[in-house]
Amino acid sequence: MHVLEGASRGCVDVHPLTVRVTHWINAVAILMMVTSGWRIYDASPLFDFVFPREITLGGWLGGALQWHFAAMWLLAVNGIVYLAFGIGSRHFARKLLPIGPRAILNDVLAALRGRLAHDDLSVYNAAQRAAYLALIALGALLVASGLAIWKPVQLQGLASLMGGYEGARVIHFAAMTMLALIVLVHILMVVFVPRTLPTMITGRVRHPS
Ligand code: HEM
Repeated sequence: MHVLEGASRGCVDVHPLTVRVTHWINAVAILMMVTSGWRIYDASPLFDFVFPREITLGGWLGGALQWHFAAMWLLAVNGIVYLAFGIGSRHFARKLLPIGPRAILNDVLAALRGRLAHDDLSVYNAAQRAAYLALIALGALLVASGLAIWKPVQLQGLASLMGGYEGARVIHFAAMTMLALIVLVHILMVVFVPRTLPTMITGRVRHPS
């Protein structure tokens, strides 16, 4: 946490520029991946339901595949920049760690009772840390299972780790579902604590002097 000098005196830097830019590119890429993915799923459903056409992207299977592959590059390149920055600058070590099951449980229970404080926006609580780490892990699993579905012959080793082509499809779908649910809760938390939103845009918050 840095208190800024000069014109920005009284403000605290909360989110580095790289984190903000990659976060918003990621949000757009995930939205395109998930909605085009639903259209691709509808062409050959794994389960006994399909997604309503109105909430899918691409119009038809071919269009949805083009959206999915275009957004895949955006997600992959952006994800590599975010991960490299997060590890290299120790952003992950400082903001997402340490974390333990007891702290997560306490914070989740407090959140459910509406008693989870988030006064200091420069520090993530344990529930946030767990959610963000889960989103990063699910993103990696989605990319790995997606590669196994895309190139099941060339990437046989990866595909067989996931139970083959069909297994990779189930893992890809399950990871998407978990990611979508966590993102839903993530957005709800932003609605409950709206002052976190401008901070994720400008990177700063006024210091409570
Ligand atoms: C409209 C959609 C979204 C909104 C409004 C939003 C908003 C925010 C805000 C306000 C924060 C900072 C929270 C705080 O300071 O307490 C944040 C952090 C974060 N969000 Fe989102 N988010 C959205 C979508 C997503 C998506 C789709 C993902 C990933 C799949 C995601 C992953 C993250 C992660 C990992 C962080 C922590 C970033 C870091 O410090 O490294 N968000 N988001």
